[in-house]
Amino acid sequence: MGDVELILSHPVDLAVDWIGSEELMGQLQACWLVVEPGDVPLCPRIVGRPGVGKTTLAAAAARRLGKPLYIHQCTMDTRPEDLVVTPVLSRGGAVRYHASPIVTAMIEGAVVVLDEANRMSEKSWASLAPLLDHRRYVESIVAGVQVPAHEDFRCTVTMNDDASTYEVPDYIMSRIQPMIEVGFPEREEELQILKYHVDFAPEVLLGLTVDFLQGGHQNDLDYSTRDGIHILRFALKLRASQPERPLEDVFDQAVRQVLGPDAFEFDQKRLEKNLHQFQILDGFQDFFTNEEDLLGDEGELPDEDD
Ligand SMILES: Nc1ncnc2c1ncn2[C@@H]1O[C@H](COP(=O)(O)OP(=O)(O)OP(=O)(O)O)[C@@H](O)[C@H]1O
Ligand SMILES: [Mg+2]
Repeated sequence: MGDVELILSHPVDLAVDWIGSEELMGQLQACWLVVEPGDVPLCPRIVGRPGVGKTTLAAAAARRLGKPLYIHQCTMDTRPEDLVVTPVLSRGGAVRYHASPIVTAMIEGAVVVLDEANRMSEKSWASLAPLLDHRRYVESIVAGVQVPAHEDFRCTVTMNDDASTYEVPDYIMSRIQPMIEVGFPEREEELQILKYHVDFAPEVLLGLTVDFLQGGHQNDLDYSTRDGIHILRFALKLRASQPERPLEDVFDQAVRQVLGPDAFEFDQKRLEKNLHQFQILDGFQDFFTNEEDLLGDEGELPDEDD
């Protein structure tokens, strides 16, 4: 870049597919379209609870575009220069300039995900302001260079509902638009996601896990698809090491150890409630199919003419 040599970052190799809502995938793909010569791609923020698939959506969209993917993991310690160019002293005493994943993606015309970006301070965000609007460049003070984004460069930001360390400043919020909201998946979608990740799990265990997760979603609890994948994997490992234990038993232990005793109690109560409802329904079934209802007044089958 000019007469400064930048050492580029490496892309991540995340061979993951997006299962389920094509609506969400379509929204992200639309943001990245350039529809006319004067148009620029948008940098949307993908928001939602932990473990619902925000990073996966961005990574899968990059994969569908056939572009390399760079992920910048943002933390409360991220400094402005970490986002752009970091000077590193080499053994010989010379300064070498390391380009961040963001700058590398800008140079290569790739996709960058600013992951969990709402953990960063306002000072760090400031260095990205010109990148996130129509100007599409960043400035490295330490290396003394301005880096323009390649026309194929695409960007998105993920934000975890629960993890705000700092308030995201308004002038940045107005640049990371629109918002794409990832919610909990429907039962059939969630089952497909679990199957995709743990395709060797028996149907019974998949059923127990998806019912538990869906019960959690209905009760607005933070049990995510990621938790479901961990429960499945742990239950299967327990079962492999103790084959005599029933699947229900290893499932209960996995829920307790992955999510804690509250989740286990929630599951027990949910099952009791379902059993209770089932018994009531069963009672109604008896009521409606009472043999005497089917028989005539005298206890005989009614005539066809009646
Ligand atoms: N629709 C989906 N298709 C495929 N995999 C999914 C989907 N939704 C969730 N997953 C899987 O669930 C796990 C959690 O997803 P991911 O890491 O993308 O969540 P996240 O929303 O980014 O979480 P966090 O807020 O903690 O960063 C991953 O293993 C991911 O592959
Ligand atoms: Mg994530």
